[in-house]
Amino acid sequence: MTSDANRAVGIIGGTGLTTLSGLDITETRSVETSWGPPSSELIEGCLDGQPVVFLSRHGNPHNIPPHEVNYKANLKALYDAGVRTVIGVNAVGGIHPDMSPACVVIPDQIIDYTWGRASTFFEGELDAVTHIDFTWPYDSAAREILLQTAQDRNVAHAGFGVYGATQGPRLETAAEIRRMERDGCDLVGMTGMPEAALAAELGMRYVCLGLVVNWAAGKSDHIITMDEIEAAIEQGMSGVKQILEASMADLGALTALAQSS
Ligand code: HPA
Repeated sequence: MTSDANRAVGIIGGTGLTTLSGLDITETRSVETSWGPPSSELIEGCLDGQPVVFLSRHGNPHNIPPHEVNYKANLKALYDAGVRTVIGVNAVGGIHPDMSPACVVIPDQIIDYTWGRASTFFEGELDAVTHIDFTWPYDSAAREILLQTAQDRNVAHAGFGVYGATQGPRLETAAEIRRMERDGCDLVGMTGMPEAALAAELGMRYVCLGLVVNWAAGKSDHIITMDEIEAAIEQGMSGVKQILEASMADLGALTALAQSS
């Protein structure tokens, strides 16, 4: 448990962010939750003076595919560690013309195309049927902090976008991407849901920090290759890390504010 109970900011690292350099580590813990073990150990420490709990969504090493991630255990483990604000870092494909590879995206909406994932805490033996509000899936105050930081640090970014969450692990067909575009999706990824909804069910602030690692299927003149994805991660991850580090104090203050009100 971090020393500042309920003030830690949680970071869920995705593809390209299995570990967080710059994190001044105080403790590494293997934990269990009522939903099983999370994807990785919890790495607790300080980033720019702010208590942080880091979790690697795909495990460390990176070997859990998006549809097999135990999202419930991941969110519950962070919650139990005192986290009340979560940044989900996600590798995504760009659909919107402004979302080219290596660009950072801070989306504002989600369309969920995933299926068969354990996607709610509100099932089984319940006292009452519960429906959470999910009109605005990403926390607006946390989004503002990330946007302002990206601007201040001159990190190339798009401060809008509808995240289309697909099942994977295969990438989409060109026709699927055309349909998603007609639906209003600007970016596509495999891990944005049910993570955002589960955070909301636990009453946590949640925000997505996306890194575009390829043009979505059919949006360029070539097929998607791992080489292209790795090159975009190499080019763009420093921007993601800059935003994470420089936004920590403000995100921590936001979390503390919520605790005291
Ligand atoms: N589609 C789905 N998920 C992704 C993509 C994509 O093109 N790129 C990175 N994650």
